[in-house]
Amino acid sequence: MISLENVSLKFEEEKGIVHILNDISITFEPGKLYVITGPNGGGKTSVAKVMMGIHNPSSGKIILDDQDITSCSISERAFKGVRYAFQNPPRFKGIDVKWFLKLANEAITEADISLILKKIGLCPEEYLERTVDAGLSGGEMKRMEIASVLLSKAKVAILDEPEAGVDLWGFEQLLNLIIQSHHKAIKRTTIIISHSEKFLKAADEIIVVANGKIQVRGNYAEIHPLIQEGINCRWRKVCLEEEKEDEIKCGR
Ligand SMILES: Nc1ncnc2c1ncn2[C@@H]1O[C@H](COP(=O)(O)OP(=O)(O)O)[C@@H](O)[C@H]1O
Ligand SMILES: [Mg+2]
Repeated sequence: MISLENVSLKFEEEKGIVHILNDISITFEPGKLYVITGPNGGGKTSVAKVMMGIHNPSSGKIILDDQDITSCSISERAFKGVRYAFQNPPRFKGIDVKWFLKLANEAITEADISLILKKIGLCPEEYLERTVDAGLSGGEMKRMEIASVLLSKAKVAILDEPEAGVDLWGFEQLLNLIIQSHHKAIKRTTIIISHSEKFLKAADEIIVVANGKIQVRGNYAEIHPLIQEGINCRWRKVCLEEEKEDEIKCGR
C-alpha cells in the first residue's frame, strides 16, 4: 500500500514559484489497478515522480506500508519495491538487454528474458545482445522499460503512458500483457498513467489529475462522461485570454 499525504510540489524559477502539485492525498491499495488520467501538464508524471523520489515534495509525506519513505532515495524506494517505468525512458550506455532486464530481477533466467521479450513483441534472437542506448528506438525502449517493471517483484508498479510511442501492431498485445501481469500478481498495486480507453475500462479506480490536483475519482461508468466534458472545459489548462470564453462555455 502506498499513500500520498497532503503532498505539494513547487519549483522555484526565475519568473517565481511554480506550483505543480497542490495538497494531494490518496491511498493506493494492494491488488488494485489504478489509472491516473487527465490533460497534458496536469501533474500526472509529477505524482509518479514524487512517489518514486525523483522529485522531493515541498510538503507532505509518502507512506509505503506504514513506513514514511519521504526522505528515501530512488534506489532505496526501488529496493523496497516501488518501480517506475518512465514516460520517456532514459538510455544506458554499455548495458545490454539481458543485463538491463536482470537488473530488474536477479533471479530471472535467460529463458524468462526470452519469454518476456516475445511477449512485448521483440524477437529474443535479435535483441538479447543489443545495447540499451540510443540505438534502440523510442518504442523499443518503452517496451524494454515496461518489461523491466513487469519482471521485477514490485509491490507498487507505476507505468507512465506505457502506450505512448508504441506502434499499432503491438499496441493491443502490450496493453493486454500489462493488464494480465497485474491480475496474476494480485497483491501488486499497479498504477498506470494513461489516456487509453482499454486501461480506463480495466481499472478498479480512475483518478483524474488536472491543475496539480485530484479532480475526481471513480469507476469507468462514473468518470468516462466527465472526462469528455472535462477535457473540453474545466480541467483543460487555459490561457488567460481564453479563460473568459471558457467560463461562459462551461458555465463556470
Ligand atoms: N522540472 C520542472 N520544472 C518546472 N516545471 C515543471 C518541471 N517538471 C514539470 N513541470 C511542469 O509541471 C506541470 C505538470 O507536469 P507533468 O507532471 O509532467 O504533467 P503530465 O504528466 O500530467 O502531462 C507542467 O506544467 C510541467 O511543465
Ligand atoms: Mg506525463
